[in-house]
Amino acid sequence: MTTTAINAVILAAGKGTRMRSALPKVLHPVAQKPMVAHVIESAQALGAERINLVYGHGGEQLQTRLSDYAVDWVEQAEQLGTGHAVQQAIPQINDQDTVLILYGDVPLTRIETLQALLAAKADSPFALLTVTLPDPTGYGRIVRDSHGNITGIVEHKDATPEQHKIAEVNTGIMAVNGEALKRWLSQLDSNNAQGEFYLTDIVAMAAAEGVAIASSQPAQISEVEGANNRVQLAGLERAYQQRQAEALMMAGATLLDPARIDVRGNVTVGSDVVIDVNVVFEGQVTIEDGVVIEPNCIIRDSHIAAGAHIKANSVLEGAKVGPAAQVGPFARLRPGTELATGAAVGNFVEIKKSYLGKGAKAGHLTYLGDTHVGAETNIGAGTITCNYDGVNKHKTEIGSGAFIGSNSSLVAPVQIGDHATIGAGSVITSKVAANELAVARGKQRNIAGWKRPVKKGDK
Ligand code: UD1
Ligand code: MG
Repeated sequence: MTTTAINAVILAAGKGTRMRSALPKVLHPVAQKPMVAHVIESAQALGAERINLVYGHGGEQLQTRLSDYAVDWVEQAEQLGTGHAVQQAIPQINDQDTVLILYGDVPLTRIETLQALLAAKADSPFALLTVTLPDPTGYGRIVRDSHGNITGIVEHKDATPEQHKIAEVNTGIMAVNGEALKRWLSQLDSNNAQGEFYLTDIVAMAAAEGVAIASSQPAQISEVEGANNRVQLAGLERAYQQRQAEALMMAGATLLDPARIDVRGNVTVGSDVVIDVNVVFEGQVTIEDGVVIEPNCIIRDSHIAAGAHIKANSVLEGAKVGPAAQVGPFARLRPGTELATGAAVGNFVEIKKSYLGKGAKAGHLTYLGDTHVGAETNIGAGTITCNYDGVNKHKTEIGSGAFIGSNSSLVAPVQIGDHATIGAGSVITSKVAANELAVARGKQRNIAGWKRPVKKGDK
């Protein structure tokens, strides 16, 4: 058997007028990623050797936004129909290729569904992905003969009342042998109700040649749905999120409400993870066994180790949370934060580019930036590391078993040794050695019998 290369052609030339947007339709996001990027990634996941993106409107915006992807840009200057769109890619197609036609505004097709379509194509030069809809209005209908063989596709506007009753429709997604596709495309005309070059006309051409056209179906209708307006886009977003929620539950997470979680990136979960409502995940997030995440948290590009507890209203970005660590409520962990085993960060604490050692605590109202905190050290309420002198950032190093009294300012660069103690309200500007007590604040003076001043004229 000769192996054939998968050559993907993604149609994305439509204007998307109904989006009412300056952004080309296919750049509108699902889960924070442009719809067309989902499609490109699916083609990549299938091992496509070439990915052609047929664009018309907003070419510059598309090329800028999609510059990370290796695609071949194919311009369709005038949108004369889906057949005309694929014709523009002909120079990119080899005879032995399996050409996979995809759509830039149909982002949710599962890899398994496309693999099944390609498997169906293995026995035929042509395979169609079809779907049966409760309301097929507007779609191209799949016409079959009395033996169930596909003989053509008739567009809604060209169909007879009898054909309008057909519920099996064309999704538009198809896999075709390169040589046959090129031959059929060269025979297209625009003699139809819309005056367009219909890609779908190649089906009748294939049938006329005696080709047995294969077909397969997706598991879910949402896999083949496109978005023409923002209502449909919101529908795709929900379908995508439901799929993510189901995957997390199947992987061992309890979701208190699967409809109130958003995954905009990749989340992996261990077993017995509990995620409460209104939690948003972005980027790459790893959550190990037994982690609990309370309501209203945003977690971006972070790693949360086993048994950690993220309390309500916390925001984590680029953070590494150690085993059994506690975060929040109302904590903010910024990039470069690392919490060791059992460390605890409480409410209104902001941490940036800092390490908290094993069992260390910063319970309340604190800012730690560019700081290294040793094991079992206690950072009192209201402690601020003054890490920025207006020009440069400086480091604060705090040893293990230290105690920083409340409302202290640690003016970096500064070191505080193991088991050192800082008196509350201190402004620490120079090194405190191990086991020392440092108190750096105005001394209290008491004046007995002090008479407050009185207003002039009062007795
Ligand atoms: C098409 C199919 C129809 C199918 C339906 C599924 C044809 C003739 N009809 O109809 O059988 O049921 O999709 O949604 O193929 N595009 C271009 N260049 C063009 C025209 C279209 O890139 O010149 C792109 C559009 O951006 C869009 C896609 O192709 O993403 C489909 O085009 P559209 O005109 O919406 O096709 P339908 O009329 O819906
Ligand atoms: Mg159309």
